[in-house]
Amino acid sequence: MNLILMGLPGAGKGTQAEKINEKYNIPHISTGDMFRLAIKEGTDLGKKAKEYMDRGELVPDEVTNGIVKERLSKDDCKKGFLLDGFPRTIAQAAALQSLLQDINQSIDYVIHVDVPEEKLVERLTGRRICPTCGTTYHVVYNPPKEDGICDKDGSSLIQRDDDKPATVKKRLSVNIEQTKPLLDFYDEKGYLVTVNGDQDIDQVFQDIQTKIEK
Ligand code: AP5
Ligand code: ZN
Repeated sequence: MNLILMGLPGAGKGTQAEKINEKYNIPHISTGDMFRLAIKEGTDLGKKAKEYMDRGELVPDEVTNGIVKERLSKDDCKKGFLLDGFPRTIAQAAALQSLLQDINQSIDYVIHVDVPEEKLVERLTGRRICPTCGTTYHVVYNPPKEDGICDKDGSSLIQRDDDKPATVKKRLSVNIEQTKPLLDFYDEKGYLVTVNGDQDIDQVFQDIQTKIEK
């Protein structure tokens, strides 16, 4: 199954991607995670991406398209893939279309996780992540068993640099502007399914399964 997860920052793409990956065993390809890894490793890609991410802006299309192309060409994507946070612009969607054609693949579903804008600031500023295994928590909605500690490996949880209030505002406005035309683009092609992301995490996942297994 070839899936794309769409939604505004904080809608729950990463949270649902973990569940989809567990259940359907398809590689989870998150451009945000790839950039964060490059930053951690101090590569040229990381240095370039950091400039934009720290400001809450989108990394330029040619950079982003390049890393997705490389990743989708790997063998493990032959059994399917889950794109999370890509494409985010019409130009990225066009690049993806031609890339998929080259590797003889197509999209099955574009899953839009829909959450009202006013809920997103709280979700983002309350998010905490594990620096070791990448698991995402929320101080109120999805807390670890022990305050500030990852359930899986005991690491101390951290806050993402771009989850500070000023950057969150900018990220939301940039993404709100880009998302609508992209949703229309995929709706016209008949790929789009929308789930209500303003529900309990497990209920959102239930709804996703219902839509993609029908
Ligand atoms: P990226 O890492 O993709 O960030 P994002 O799109 O802003 O999305 P988030 O990761 O913030 O949110 P999410 O939807 O995954 O939510 P989560 O599951 O964590 O991108 C970061 C940056 O990289 C971008 O700003 C840009 O600069 C760059 N970039 C990435 N892709 C790019 C591209 N294609 N082009 C150009 N630049 C790109 O959930 C959020 C919180 O809510 C968590 O705490 C979670 O526990 C909680 N939560 C989740 N679900 C629920 C629920 N149902 N109820 C209550 N709480 C919930
Ligand atoms: Zn962990």
